[in-house]
Amino acid sequence: MESATETIKRIFGESSSPLGAEIAAETTRFRAVQKAVCPKPARTRLIAVANQKGGVGKTTTAVNLSAALAQFKSRVLLIDMDPQGNASTALGAPHASGQPSVYDVIEGRKTIAEVKRTCPDFDMLDVVPASIDLSGAELEVADLPNRNVLLKNAVDEFLSTSEEHYDYVIIDCPPSLGLLVINSMCAVNEMLIPIQAEYYALEGLGQLINTIGLVQSHFNPSLLVSTMLITMFDKRTLLSREVRDEVKKHYPSIVLNTTIPRTVKISEAPSFNQSVIAYDPKGMGAISYCEAALEIAERSQTVLQAIDARRNEN
Ligand SMILES: Nc1ncnc2c1ncn2[C@@H]1O[C@H](COP(=O)(O)OP(=O)(O)O)[C@@H](O)[C@H]1O
Ligand SMILES: [Mg+2]
Repeated sequence: MESATETIKRIFGESSSPLGAEIAAETTRFRAVQKAVCPKPARTRLIAVANQKGGVGKTTTAVNLSAALAQFKSRVLLIDMDPQGNASTALGAPHASGQPSVYDVIEGRKTIAEVKRTCPDFDMLDVVPASIDLSGAELEVADLPNRNVLLKNAVDEFLSTSEEHYDYVIIDCPPSLGLLVINSMCAVNEMLIPIQAEYYALEGLGQLINTIGLVQSHFNPSLLVSTMLITMFDKRTLLSREVRDEVKKHYPSIVLNTTIPRTVKISEAPSFNQSVIAYDPKGMGAISYCEAALEIAERSQTVLQAIDARRNEN
């Protein structure tokens, strides 16, 4: 029987119609993702998604990578550390003010096990929601001697006592460099930095790298910037391609080959309390996030070795 790709090729012709070629490519990539085997990391990977710029795709990336990895049968815990609670919304986790959330975890009233909720679309994905109450935490814990490691202590305790083994813990950071982000950076050993393909993409990156350096030297020596992902990429524009090439030139070993295109479905999905992986599984947004998840999973061994090497240096 003729495959969908072949049918499309037959109707549109291979090169005569760019649209036809694009649909054919999309079908081919969707099938490849469906067939792909996603390796599990040898131990839990803890990754904070951070960039102090707002609107670069942190939450979208944390949500959709988590959903993609869970769809590939890895067990994932997503921790929402942004008082806006956008990641909680996008994964269907209730987070009205006063409900159990990461705020209670940070302040020691509840454990992660007590506040986590399973995402309705993926049984391998658990979410620790954030509510607006979290915005009070920075001030409320400011005087505690262990204020930087409150999240780390909670995560360590959870992972060591949970009956289920988690393959990934992914933290969605707020767009500032305050106590919530420091707590996130102390709780993980990897940083994933989403870079929006736009003119000022690299501006501010130096400041972020400096902050990561400070956290490394004071609190968390094994912290590694393991991954960069280009988001809202528009392959038709020269600017997008220039930004990608520039980032690749500066950070050749950590930028993923996959880029995330700008698509309407990606931005629509949260209003349905869904990741794009559940909302539009065959579209380019979902396909791209699945490809990025595969790339991240395939790099696990290299990344874990790099973390061990850093640990041994210190
Ligand atoms: N690839 C994309 N295509 C279209 N819209 C996107 C894409 N990535 C993010 N967005 C939209 O851009 C806005 C900012 O993204 P978000 O992930 O919330 O950024 P951040 O968490 O860094 O502030 C949101 O409205 C989101 O839906
Ligand atoms: Mg966000």
